Amino acid sequence: MCGIVGYIGYEQAAPLLLNSLEKLEYRGYDSAGICLNDGSRLVYEKAKGKLQVLKNLTDNGKTLSGTVGIGHTRWATHGEPSDVNAHPHLSESERFAVVHNGIIENYIQLKEHLAAKGVEFLSKTDTEVIAQLIEHYYKGNLIDTVIKVLSKLEGSYALGVISKDNPDEIIAVRKESPLIIGLGENENFIASDVTAILAKTRKIYRLENNEIAIIKRDNVTIIDTDKEEIQKEIETVNWDISAAEKGGYEHFMFKEIMEQPKAIRDTIAPRIKDGRVVLDEIKLTDEQLRKFTKINILACGSAYHVGVVAKYVFEKMLRKPVEVDLASEFRYREPIVDEKTLTIVISQSGETADTKEAMKEAQRRGSHVISVVNVVGSAIAVESDDVIYTWAGPEIAVATTKAYSTQLAVIYLMAIYFGDKLGTVSEDEYRIYIKELEQLPDKINQILADKENIQYLASKNFNCKDVFFIGRNIDYALSLEGSLKLKEISYIHSEAYAAGELKHGTISLIEQGTLVIALATHEALIGKIVSNIEEVQARGANVIGVACSNHPEIANIAQSTIFIPETCDMLLPSLAVIPLQLFAYYVASLKGCDIDKPRNLAKSVTVE
Ligand code: AGP
Repeated sequence: MCGIVGYIGYEQAAPLLLNSLEKLEYRGYDSAGICLNDGSRLVYEKAKGKLQVLKNLTDNGKTLSGTVGIGHTRWATHGEPSDVNAHPHLSESERFAVVHNGIIENYIQLKEHLAAKGVEFLSKTDTEVIAQLIEHYYKGNLIDTVIKVLSKLEGSYALGVISKDNPDEIIAVRKESPLIIGLGENENFIASDVTAILAKTRKIYRLENNEIAIIKRDNVTIIDTDKEEIQKEIETVNWDISAAEKGGYEHFMFKEIMEQPKAIRDTIAPRIKDGRVVLDEIKLTDEQLRKFTKINILACGSAYHVGVVAKYVFEKMLRKPVEVDLASEFRYREPIVDEKTLTIVISQSGETADTKEAMKEAQRRGSHVISVVNVVGSAIAVESDDVIYTWAGPEIAVATTKAYSTQLAVIYLMAIYFGDKLGTVSEDEYRIYIKELEQLPDKINQILADKENIQYLASKNFNCKDVFFIGRNIDYALSLEGSLKLKEISYIHSEAYAAGELKHGTISLIEQGTLVIALATHEALIGKIVSNIEEVQARGANVIGVACSNHPEIANIAQSTIFIPETCDMLLPSLAVIPLQLFAYYVASLKGCDIDKPRNLAKSVTVE
């Protein structure tokens, strides 16, 4: 999604803005720009394409002088990617410049109103309307003007605003889209997230909805739209800079695959004390918990796939009906949700618009919402009733891995915790689950140690045109994620299919040489999946099996087999997903794909 940066201090701003934008590239973008106040006017450069284009145009920032400025990487929503649609957007007289992340839902009416008064628009964006509105209403006080303009806007926005008249301040505003203020020594920053400013400061204010920051070189004032000052706690970001860099790996995605044992350990360890799961984040009483008649899970993409795994886990362990919805579908299906429904919302970014709006729909219908989120202070985390953070650290690669795995870990913690309270998990089962959960990181390390075997299989199959992932029960749930991983970074078409369903039509697509990745980890159904493997092989398929080490016979059936350590059925997805992530990574790497920033994709989809 769009990335916002801003700087006010005593150094030349342009090179700093470009460096900060570089740290936000992972959010996905198609154009970029910067604008500065050079002491007498606003000077700017913006261009379609990657940041390098902008660096070339400005000789790495040397051609634009000034010690206060704003910058932006744009992921197009209104208006195609182009130089003129790139941010910052300036008002007609070039007196004001604005960068924006979000969507102004009533921009057309506002644009028509201004155009009727003779305002000339250069771009097709919603953002330009903000810049023009500021100029239209400006009577000498920028804060008052910004507040008035905000009252006209409907939708979501994180804004950075600078003006020609005042080279000593940046105005920043947040509503829905994330925005932070970086606090330096005689210099201050704005950014969409901490990775943009970690090299300069670790002290931040995290703006909440409808908060306005007036940022000067030596102080920051936060006010509300009534101009009442708001006292905020300074937050110290404890992420290492390396945690937001590649740490020596070729891609963020590989780094994050390798970080999964630590990410899972960081997520579960603080929540297991003396052999018991402790989830103080959940404020539900036991009585409230018992009153829920069903669980509804809302999410998108890989987070949705975690939800599908959770359905099998919760229904087996809690004996409660579980519905899993694609967030974008949930809102429009008249869902049967009320105060007796427990809603669980899963999101790495905590800013996914579809998921955020689905959560609000569930809350409107009286449901208690627990969110599982990786980004602290993100909208979904703040607006849910309870939030359980995954401590995966910053996940930069667009294709999620460690966030997916830590979301699974939180699901297991919740299942054990709720099962204990509902009396559906016995003491013996409880102890086994805790032991196996605590062993997950070491077992994942065992799989990672054997990654060359998976790299070899990828080298044999990276030219495939169609790949099928099949499985039964919880293996089917996992096959969804294996398929998406391969698709989104290698651009190879693949499909996840319930193995027992293939024969009802889709098996007609299996022909000589078709690659089928068969997940065969679920103990109770091993006989069934073996039959399914033989079914597809009879039609020419080349099968890679994924099985537990206690079923060596799979190696005699599938053409190739990846073995994973044993664990209890419910935790198997956390192990079986690792080879699928690695397979996708190596295939994409062999195909020379842009692994961390796949085409058409963004890390956080903050538009519907
Ligand atoms: C997963 O690899 C994709 N990047 C995508 O499906 C992602 O999981 C989805 O957009 C949901 O994002 P969220 O977890 O930040 O809400």
